[in-house]
Amino acid sequence: MSTRPPVSLPAWAALQRCAAQLQQQDLRQLCAPPERFAQFSYRAGPLLLDLSKQRLDTTALNTLLALAEQCQLPAGRTRLLQGEIVNLSENRPALHTALRAPYAARPAQVRDLIETELQRLYDLAARLTDARWRGHSGKAITDIVHIGIGGSHLGPAFVLEALAQQDQQRFRCHFLANVDGALLQQIQQGLNPETTLFILVSKSFSTIETKVNAESARSWLLERGVAQTDLHKHFVAVTANAQAALAFGIAEENLFAMWDWVGGRYSLWSAVGLPLLLILGRTHFDALLAGAHQLDTHFASAPLAENLPVLLALIGIWNYNFLGASSQGVLCYDHRLRNLTNYLQQLETESNGKSVGPDGIPVATSTMPVLWGGEEPNGQHSFHQLLHQGTTNTSLDFIFCRQAEHWRSEHQQWLLASALSQSEALLRGRRQEELDPTEPAALRAQRAVAGNKPSTSLVLDALTPTALGALLALYEHKVYCQSLIWHINPFDQWGVELGKVLGQQIHNELGGGTAVTHDASTLGLIRHLRHIRGEA
Ligand code: F6P
Repeated sequence: MSTRPPVSLPAWAALQRCAAQLQQQDLRQLCAPPERFAQFSYRAGPLLLDLSKQRLDTTALNTLLALAEQCQLPAGRTRLLQGEIVNLSENRPALHTALRAPYAARPAQVRDLIETELQRLYDLAARLTDARWRGHSGKAITDIVHIGIGGSHLGPAFVLEALAQQDQQRFRCHFLANVDGALLQQIQQGLNPETTLFILVSKSFSTIETKVNAESARSWLLERGVAQTDLHKHFVAVTANAQAALAFGIAEENLFAMWDWVGGRYSLWSAVGLPLLLILGRTHFDALLAGAHQLDTHFASAPLAENLPVLLALIGIWNYNFLGASSQGVLCYDHRLRNLTNYLQQLETESNGKSVGPDGIPVATSTMPVLWGGEEPNGQHSFHQLLHQGTTNTSLDFIFCRQAEHWRSEHQQWLLASALSQSEALLRGRRQEELDPTEPAALRAQRAVAGNKPSTSLVLDALTPTALGALLALYEHKVYCQSLIWHINPFDQWGVELGKVLGQQIHNELGGGTAVTHDASTLGLIRHLRHIRGEA
């Protein structure tokens, strides 16, 4: 990370000039040359990144790469991958890449720690799968309830949904993140306490939603006749706070480590991914890690001009900071990827939703925009109207797979046609002159589509564990590269702390505890809720 704010770097001013010039150009003309795709699309392992529909020419791209150099991105990359302290506010390295590296490629200081936990995880998964681990009454475990929130939930939940073949599952897996009792009740209705294993996942072991859900899970078991001394047959925990987990009653041999050198939202590759190991099996779990490692190697070694995470980061910066895009849309043309947006929302916005640099100085640029998106082509029958004819300027990633795993090729062909037709429609638009000239001019004006709108396409060869691992690592490194340019720390999240403190106070007051000072609105709502709960 450069110590100079990015706006003071020569490349920043040069990019403003490039943007002013390119904004005058019609994107259709820019994208017309037949060599455009070959010139602006990039390959890494199972991923293809197509930037050829972006408002970009060689000069702008080279200037973006110059910005990366001037922000000392290569040095920042080395610091991350070599395990130096990159999370300055918490004085920690961020070693998520070590979790998915083969033994010899891990930094020496964490090599054996990771190996020990990995082997313990494999062993636990094997004991559960072949029913050497049994519930208190001697029955095999059939249901896994993963209790955790944020980074302790989104990764395994998303990857499981993306990769699990419904008919192959040895265990049913349920995710309990929300503290809403309705969800707990719904999940518990289908469970047998004799055959249920709860996995408590919390790096801090102090997150309120997880604590409350874990305590309810324990009460539920006790109320259904499980002896206190048998609880260890129904609980394992993954945490960096072993003491708190032991105090909760987790048996020491059922504790799996998270470490302070891996951020929650980067922890999918650790014991946090236990449901993946259990449901997908070791081969697929290992392939997920291998795919991520393959992308790490690419990130570490490819020249910036061919480096997918660097390019994806730069195109984001180009769109937000120079071309005025106000949000980032993620359009997933694959039902299995429908929750990628949830995962990326935490990864990108909890990481880079910052406005003060590590030096305590407010940033002089816009940083992470709102990230939204969902399952396509469903959005085509909803918010795509806004994309085509609205007044907002959005940065868009179209994500799809070249090959499907089902045999209904007609469906896949339609899915892919939908993706390509949307990005082409955004680019091409439809001029009034192309419409029926006998129609009233006012109608033609409303039916015309401006076009001239850029997008990125990201294509996976197929949705394999390897490709998914690579995709997630791509976005992780994109986030880091952007943080280096925006001059912010992507590995802390101080902004979420205040709400937690207030939540404790308000919970106390809702339960009849002493009131503390609030604004008039919050006070009015507390009184209103207490009244509904039967208090005067
Ligand atoms: O509140 C945000 C957060 O701290 C995330 O960063 C984290 O992933 C999540 O809560 C859960 O935290 P923990 O794993 O400590 O329960």
